[in-house]
Amino acid sequence: MAAIRCAQLGFKTAIIEKYDTLGGTCLNVGCIPSKALLDSSEHFHNAGHTFKEHGIDIAAPKVNFGQMIKRKGGVVKANVDGIAYLMKKNKIDVHTGVGSFVDKNTIKITGKDGKDKTITTEKVIIATGSKPTPLPFAPFDKKRIISSTEALELKEVPKHLIVIGGGVIGMELGSVYARIGSKVTVVEFLDSLIPTMDGTMGKELLKVAKKLGMDVFLGHKVTSLQNTGKEVALKAEDKSGKILELKGDYCLVSIGRRPYTDGLGLDKVGIETVKGQIPVDDHLKTRVDNIYAIGDVVRGAMLAHKAEEEGVLVAEQLAGQKPHINYNLIPGVVYTWPEVASVGFTEEQLKQAGRAYKVGNFPYKALGRARASMDLDGLVKNSSR
Ligand code: NAI
Repeated sequence: MAAIRCAQLGFKTAIIEKYDTLGGTCLNVGCIPSKALLDSSEHFHNAGHTFKEHGIDIAAPKVNFGQMIKRKGGVVKANVDGIAYLMKKNKIDVHTGVGSFVDKNTIKITGKDGKDKTITTEKVIIATGSKPTPLPFAPFDKKRIISSTEALELKEVPKHLIVIGGGVIGMELGSVYARIGSKVTVVEFLDSLIPTMDGTMGKELLKVAKKLGMDVFLGHKVTSLQNTGKEVALKAEDKSGKILELKGDYCLVSIGRRPYTDGLGLDKVGIETVKGQIPVDDHLKTRVDNIYAIGDVVRGAMLAHKAEEEGVLVAEQLAGQKPHINYNLIPGVVYTWPEVASVGFTEEQLKQAGRAYKVGNFPYKALGRARASMDLDGLVKNSSR
């Protein structure tokens, strides 16, 4: 988005990408493929659970997992091809390879064949994103101890998928597999699911997850995780020290993501990361006056639409405009069913800030429209003055 907005505003623009396809995590191994599987699994779930009540009689549906994964691949391909087309349309030069700073105006691009080329530039925008965080004592082996990337490409439906981390990824991918027949067990460190959102939403999602047959252990600290060949074995303990032991065939570790700056040569331009992030000012400028950074690699929510807004902001600033982002108006959505969507402050944040507020709740159960579509779980919550 940053590249497109720069090109639209008349800058000669180049984009450097180390993978063969553009679109980053969101399009290739994140939002879009997970949403494709969420939709497929939801259709399957409805066919087995709500069709009859709607008056649609069909034989018991079966999962064709290979086809689900294949369709997801097609969705990804159409999207990344679309991005490649947009680059051409906007006359953006695409360089495939790892980009690293030589100095603040020179970038080296190392291709897969190991050959280097350099380009010079007036301004740079770093948008290198993030990578899944591993457990310190159990790195991803990508076979049984997996991240979201592998969970989108499995060859079989897990019999028992253990999910460590009941955040956005854990709940989305956990619900995909729970709907298509896996036993799913979620182990979460804190006392709530999706703890970055309003606490009421975590409670509602817990009810929905249990209805879907998921087992959820809140307030559990994972102490060991091993791939034992055909299985994974996990140990965790609750606050009273009680030990939980689980065995499954796959373990999805979804305990957050961390900014990705490996191989970028930040030292060549004197940028130091803080807790992995590239420090930026309100204009998303780093400590080097012609280098900007946006998205998961800087502070704030790790959301593709937040990164896009930041890309547009930097481009428009470079063109002399005065754009502004109100970070508090950036919505967040967890694509379970029902989806959890939020914008603005959570009740917990208002409480902590000592602000006066009133809470209004409206349950979907009381809504005629929701009853008509058999969507009776959840509620709308408003905390405001
Ligand atoms: P997250 O921050 O949403 O959730 C991580 C969860 O793991 C938290 O509940 C945390 O308390 C828990 N946790 C941390 N360490 C743990 C441990 N050792 N044992 C057990 N639990 C532990 O991160 P997640 O789900 O990995 O997603 C990464 C990022 O990607 C997030 O920033 C998220 O916003 C973004 N994302 C957004 C999506 C969307 O907008 N729909 C979809 C998927 C990811």
